[in-house]
Amino acid sequence: MDHRIQVFLLLIFTPFLVLANHETSSLDVTGLKSLRALWTNTPPSWWTLDPCEDGWDGVGCHNMRVVSLTLPSMNLTGTLSGDIGQLSELQVLDLSYNKGLTGPLPGEISSLKKLSNIILVGCGFSGPIPPTIGSLQELIFLSLNSNGFSGSIPSSIGNLSKLYWLDLADNHLDGPIPVSHGGEPGLDMLSHCKHFHLGMNKLSGPIPSKLFSSNMSLIHVLFESNKLTGSIPSSLGLVTSLEVVRFDGNMLTGPIPLSLNSLTNVSQLFLSNNKLSGPAPNLTGMNLLHYVDLSNNSFDVSDVPPWFSTLEYLTTLMMEDTQLQGEIPAALFSLLNLQTVVLRNNQLNGTLDIGTTSSQLQLIDLQKNLIKEYEENGGYHGTLILAQNPVCDETGASPSYCKSSQSSDVVPYKTLPNICIPSPCGSDQVSSPNCKCAYPYVGTLIFRAPTFSDLQTSTGYKELEKNLTDSFLSHKLRVDSVALSNLTKDSHAYLSMSLEVFPQSQDRFNRKEVSIIAFLLSNQTFKPPKSFGPFYFIGDDYQHFAGETEQSESNKSSNVGIIIGAAAGGSVLVLILLLVGIYAIGQKRRAKRATDQNNPFGKWDVNNKTRGSTPQLKGARSFSFEELMKYSNNFSEANDVGSGGYGKVYRGTLPTGQLIAIKRAHKESIQGRNEFKTEIELLSLVHHKHLVSLVGFCFDRGEQMLVYEYVANGTLKDSLSGKSGIRLDWQRRLKIALGAARGLAYLHELCDPPIIHRDIKSTNVLLDNRLNAKVADFGLSKSMGNSGRDHVSTQVKGTMGYMDPEYYMTQRLTEKSDVYGFGVLMLELLTARKPIEQGKYIVREVRMAMDKTKDLYNLHVILDSAIGLGTTLKGLERFVDLAMTCVEEQGTNRPTMSEVVKEIENIMQLAGLNPNAESASTSASYEEASSKHPYSNEAFDYSGVFPASKIEPQ
Ligand SMILES: *[C@@H]1O[C@H](CO)[C@@H](O)[C@H](O)[C@H]1NC(C)=O
Ligand SMILES: *[C@@H]1O[C@H](CO)[C@@H](O)[C@H](O)[C@H]1NC(C)=O
Ligand SMILES: *[C@@H]1O[C@H](CO)[C@@H](O)[C@H](O)[C@H]1NC(C)=O
Ligand SMILES: *[C@@H]1O[C@H](CO)[C@@H](O)[C@H](O)[C@H]1NC(C)=O
Ligand SMILES: *[C@@H]1O[C@H](CO)[C@@H](O)[C@H](O)[C@H]1NC(C)=O
Repeated sequence: MDHRIQVFLLLIFTPFLVLANHETSSLDVTGLKSLRALWTNTPPSWWTLDPCEDGWDGVGCHNMRVVSLTLPSMNLTGTLSGDIGQLSELQVLDLSYNKGLTGPLPGEISSLKKLSNIILVGCGFSGPIPPTIGSLQELIFLSLNSNGFSGSIPSSIGNLSKLYWLDLADNHLDGPIPVSHGGEPGLDMLSHCKHFHLGMNKLSGPIPSKLFSSNMSLIHVLFESNKLTGSIPSSLGLVTSLEVVRFDGNMLTGPIPLSLNSLTNVSQLFLSNNKLSGPAPNLTGMNLLHYVDLSNNSFDVSDVPPWFSTLEYLTTLMMEDTQLQGEIPAALFSLLNLQTVVLRNNQLNGTLDIGTTSSQLQLIDLQKNLIKEYEENGGYHGTLILAQNPVCDETGASPSYCKSSQSSDVVPYKTLPNICIPSPCGSDQVSSPNCKCAYPYVGTLIFRAPTFSDLQTSTGYKELEKNLTDSFLSHKLRVDSVALSNLTKDSHAYLSMSLEVFPQSQDRFNRKEVSIIAFLLSNQTFKPPKSFGPFYFIGDDYQHFAGETEQSESNKSSNVGIIIGAAAGGSVLVLILLLVGIYAIGQKRRAKRATDQNNPFGKWDVNNKTRGSTPQLKGARSFSFEELMKYSNNFSEANDVGSGGYGKVYRGTLPTGQLIAIKRAHKESIQGRNEFKTEIELLSLVHHKHLVSLVGFCFDRGEQMLVYEYVANGTLKDSLSGKSGIRLDWQRRLKIALGAARGLAYLHELCDPPIIHRDIKSTNVLLDNRLNAKVADFGLSKSMGNSGRDHVSTQVKGTMGYMDPEYYMTQRLTEKSDVYGFGVLMLELLTARKPIEQGKYIVREVRMAMDKTKDLYNLHVILDSAIGLGTTLKGLERFVDLAMTCVEEQGTNRPTMSEVVKEIENIMQLAGLNPNAESASTSASYEEASSKHPYSNEAFDYSGVFPASKIEPQ
């Protein structure tokens, strides 16, 4: 039969096969569909057939199970179905910023035993927090703030032994703060927890003494604006890790414990608006204090304390109505960081001497005191208020400092345009700091306890902008810039500001991008500069999702519909590629059936007690099933480092200490035995720095396993997609390209007989701990044999998108087919896009977008932003040229791999790199540098939060 007719017939009869092999678990499908049934405004993609396979927005999958659900700022309305309990592999749930999500949080959430992050910030949930939440043993992050939850804090939360972040603020919670007693759990058991954010509720009763002990590792204790009574327990002084303490706005009484000044790491201390009595606190020794607010308490009359002039980082001193008497030392005003002093309504007397002040000082408010004289010396330019002091009342004169309210000349900070002139924008569009009109994603950032009170000086805010932008870019989001505006301090002393995030290439974001931006903020992945302290974010709805108007109604078609639609809209080439892909799957199935009759491994079977007959392969040893089970700790989940169509990869350790990767074929989908054998034979022959080397194999108990050296940093694809967290700049990409090219050149030109890989792709290039590329997976490799011919005829195999068009037309396999695949890989390195994405073929996209007369060949829009756009990408154009010759239609027009190696070496020299140098830094040190936290030494791993590649932005 004509080959192409056969292909078309296969297309007609086999699409269900394609789907059958890649279906989301039916449990998860049912769960998601019942969620969908109660929601309006679910993303349009939620009307395609299969959540994982079709990539429902906000649904992250691993092994066809749903592991994350991140739908912040989607304008979802409705209630949360108890069927969420079906998503039994769910690890991350983020439904933040959907004010229309109302009703209770269903108790069924407690069946999600793998949940690590529950994030429901700024929704409309109400009713009690289900006590069963305490059974989620993996929970590390619980944010339920800014909802309408009521009832008391379930004591069972004390059972969440891994909890790191607890935010229940801004709800209607009442009752006491639970602590353990008589077998009942309590919050005092959360010894790993760093954040108790319980402010803005109606909590009552005393702050339990038991809550604090030296076992706790709290850094933020925020209990402000509740109805707490009793005194501050002296056990507080045992939690020396504390950095921010807010007890303000309660009904606390009694003296402040003397132990307070053992909290030498505290930088923000708010005890204002209580009924605290006894002597004013002695803050001597709390040398990191930046912000102190003790206002409105009932302290005993006391003299100005000595610590007024010794706390060198003090920015803000608020002691209104605290019975202070005596003269203010001039030394207070010369503290270098001082910004605000409010000492209204005390009995401060004598002469006011401001002396020389720090240039940051903006406000001195001494209204209603007993100050008799003020000596103006002209050195101070901020606001001074002395109204209702003898100095104003008695003289009759009315200098400006005698007015009780003064128009301050403080203009709060606002992001201004960079060096460009904003032009007027259309309807809802906004001009970005780079003067591009776009639809920004908008929300409000709220800082609960900043270390400063200055709303004006730009340095801190500029850093915040930069950190925000960097954080978005490092997650591969196409963000152009961010803008801050509307800075205000509210009655809770929270600093709030509007945040606008502008898209880079288009004028709007798509759903994935919005959900990732919002998630980075809701999940606290983004860390602000330390001076801003704890924060939360409330995102607005986004109205302008890219590419949805035409899609929203009719997108209920199947996967096949999309494939065909995409193919029809795209080029014939794409159609052919897809057909070949489907055909290849059919072939593989048939091959599998065939091998059941014909077992080429029979003579290798180590089980038949004739181990001696196992072929002796140089360097590769035969392992028994038991051995590998032991080395991988019973194939434990903790050692599961990846998976693919063939099965799973486990990490293991040999008795010698050598790390290994065990590739274990799925029981049901055991790979063709011929291919298995080929791989062993070939791999044991080749040894090269840029090829993954085989340690051994296991062919035992019906299992097929290959044991490789362990390559620490996983696949290139994981790094390109952002999954691994390793950021690949231009230099690193060049180095990876060179390594992979050298590996291939070795296979083609130095092996005897030469080896054609046949399946070059980004998941078959692994990165070691120095980011050296190592080519892996010779399962489809084909040795050229000694026939002397320059090609071998063979059935078409490979991965769609990387496949040489000449090869699938002629079935003649040559080294040039690998060169083609390598060219596609080079384009992937440049763009971080899959070869075929949304029906677009990368080779064609680059070819069409290319304009050789322009800088970077006009490819800015297609290039991966993480490559370091904005820096000089030396040699990039030559790299594109090389990639394009590799993907020439005719093999004869493509270079050989050694020519490719030479050209990449030249490009590296152009980019100032030595192609023969060993990497100076390991990726490990890079990771350390990039994950520094502003809050003390929180070393918290968020890598599990994007567990699925489906979450990456397109
Ligand atoms: C305040 O505390 C410091 C250090 O603990 C101590 O030396 C000093 O005497 C105390 N001052 C008062 C007034 O209690
Ligand atoms: C300020 O007040 C204190 C305490 O009431 C008193 O001892 C002192 O003499 C007063 N100083 C002046 C200059 O009035
Ligand atoms: C924020 O940006 C500044 C440079 O502007 C950098 O020094 C700092 O480390 C960044 N902080 C975070 C948390 O990324
Ligand atoms: C800032 O506040 C003004 C006035 O309330 C409002 O119109 C504007 O939309 C706000 N800006 C942002 C970015 O939210
Ligand atoms: C959010 O949804 C409501 C109704 O479901 C709709 O009226 C409103 O326009 C939506 N808002 C946005 C910003 O899309």
